[in-house]
Amino acid sequence: MLHASRRALSRAAKTFACGLALAAAGSQALAAEPIGDLIKRDFQAAAAQYRTLLSEAQAKPGFPRTVDGAALVTVGPKDWTSGFFPGSLWYLFEATGDQTWKTAAIGYTADTAPAKFDKSQHDLGFMLGASYGNGYRLTRDPAYRDALLAGATTLITRYNPKVGAIQSWDLWKDSTWKFPVIVDNMMNLELLMWAARAANEPRYREIAIAHADTTLRNHFRPDASSYHLVDYDPSSGAVRGKQTVQGFANESSWARGQAWGLYGYTMMYRETKKPEYLAQARRIADFFMNHPRLPADAIPYWDFDDTAIPNAPRDASAAAITSSALLELAGFVDAPHAARYRAFAERQLRSLSSGDYLAAPGTNHGFLLKHATGHKPAGKEIDVPLNYADYYFLEALLRLRAMQSQ
Ligand code: GLY
Repeated sequence: MLHASRRALSRAAKTFACGLALAAAGSQALAAEPIGDLIKRDFQAAAAQYRTLLSEAQAKPGFPRTVDGAALVTVGPKDWTSGFFPGSLWYLFEATGDQTWKTAAIGYTADTAPAKFDKSQHDLGFMLGASYGNGYRLTRDPAYRDALLAGATTLITRYNPKVGAIQSWDLWKDSTWKFPVIVDNMMNLELLMWAARAANEPRYREIAIAHADTTLRNHFRPDASSYHLVDYDPSSGAVRGKQTVQGFANESSWARGQAWGLYGYTMMYRETKKPEYLAQARRIADFFMNHPRLPADAIPYWDFDDTAIPNAPRDASAAAITSSALLELAGFVDAPHAARYRAFAERQLRSLSSGDYLAAPGTNHGFLLKHATGHKPAGKEIDVPLNYADYYFLEALLRLRAMQSQ
């Protein structure tokens, strides 16, 4: 959203330059297409694909999210993914300067407005950050600032000081939870950190830090992998249980959950400079990058512990999120580690930019990436395009482009 400062990316670029010789992990990628050419090719492909997606989307109400069989699936403004399509349109505008994308982004951003006052979920950071957040970053329209502040004010209504966290989901009819918090929720803290600065209101920041601290204490295993969901007692703050909803098993490592944690703690380190957040991001990065079941192309299976591996679906969205996070993380560490993170991110981006994952022109209903997995246990969105895979892929390409030009 309002992501990595140019200064951090510049630092990452410089430390990468110093540590290039140590980037053994990325050596296999060095003989390939120059990375600058790859970035240009990807943005050209993205523009062509999104012309298709935009025209398909405009023929239906809502925001394009995925594909089901032959049909484009669109969702309403209160779906957790509603912001990603406008966010990708903003990124395309940023990448190309083409006003077409800005016009479309403005329209779809306005359509996410109902999320501002939605107290029923925690995903406002995703929804409003990707749409209004990028819009504000690129236009400075004060109405966008107001929308973001309204969303932040809504989001903190879900905070419980006894738990020290924001409740992720409302209680489902058949669940036994009392206060469920999912690791994904780390991503919504960026909206609060931004709001604390924009409104000069420390409360948003205090809540975001409390949430990150509570998650750090309770969501992670000794190897830095994370549980998907921790349930708390809202009156005492005690942990009631740890489990998965979207992963393979309670004790498994759902790939996108690892990616959310990595991105979330990297972002929170950027925002706070608390060393424990940097340490956690680095530990998650190590877990992901060194996992024995990570395929050679660095695009993870949807869950690292699916017993069907190697016959399990991949999740391109987890790879896109991870690559974007690692490029930011590279700005916060010494040269050899920066080189390692950047080389790994480039490896993922090269894979995503290959015909294995990048849709052939005019296919995939205009989505850019193939082979993402949304909710396998529910039998939904398996091996499909997903709007957030595209969004974080474009974000990673923009981050890499900024690092290239330093
Ligand atoms: N935040 C929901 C997901 O990652 O699927």
